[in-house]
Amino acid sequence: MSEQQSTDGSAGDADYGAIGTGYSTYRRPDPRIAQALHRALGDARTVVNVGAGAGSYESTAFETTAVEPSRSMREQRPAALPPAIDAAAEQLPFGDGAFDAAMSTFSVHQWSDLEAGLTEMRRVTRGPVVLLTCDPARVRDFWLYEYAPLVLDTEARRYPSIDRITGILGGHATVESVPVPADCTDGFNEAYYARPERLLDPAARQACSAWSFVEPSVREQYTDRLRHALDSGLWDERHGRLRRQSAFDGSLVLVRATP
Ligand SMILES: C[S@@+](CC[C@H](N)C(=O)[O-])C[C@H]1O[C@@H](n2cnc3c(N)ncnc32)[C@H](O)[C@@H]1O
Repeated sequence: MSEQQSTDGSAGDADYGAIGTGYSTYRRPDPRIAQALHRALGDARTVVNVGAGAGSYESTAFETTAVEPSRSMREQRPAALPPAIDAAAEQLPFGDGAFDAAMSTFSVHQWSDLEAGLTEMRRVTRGPVVLLTCDPARVRDFWLYEYAPLVLDTEARRYPSIDRITGILGGHATVESVPVPADCTDGFNEAYYARPERLLDPAARQACSAWSFVEPSVREQYTDRLRHALDSGLWDERHGRLRRQSAFDGSLVLVRATP
């Protein structure tokens, strides 16, 4: 356990011992996003999932080895999935080229050393390294920025630029924008683009770690602001068309790098 880890073992910038409870209730893998991810993994047989959390987006179609430093997150893995190994991206306990493919979803922005983590993923993987992450250049292009600016400023600061990611991974990289469906089951902030009321639920906000970086009193102010805009009809006046939009092209991207 590194010095940066909390008692829960969290190795990133968020303490999942404090905010991880209930994560798997609000952050259920979305089948349409899963399809895009699994397509990117191609015909791999063995896959390592780094920052695996409660097992979102792991498919039984692959022989998956999960890596997750937070105990709270490991404990939320369903019994049908293999238990996760307690390790961090920056030092993966596997040999060179041990896996056909590697994946990581909503995790790279939390690592203490992105370069070390991605270099490790590349080292242990023969084929594609596939990351589901957010493009920081697009994070603020979302209505939530009007109501909770510091939350999205935090997101934009934490997510590494796509150029930095592809530069570290090297080889040949493709970057694909992933549309967020209106009824997305994975409750990250943009998943609620057409259902703003859901963000009034404190547990839904807690499942998006950026909210935990903002003072509780500021979080309350932001929530009140959104509640008032919804009650007064202002939100619908400005953004109501999104309620009828089947998908949202936001900051979500799939990065796929082959050697
Ligand atoms: C937002 S959660 C995503 C979990 C899961 N991949 C998903 O899509 O639901 C981020 C995960 O990254 C893990 N994490 C943070 N820093 C890490 C590191 N340095 N190495 C590996 N995992 C890390 C956290 O413990 C947490 O489980």
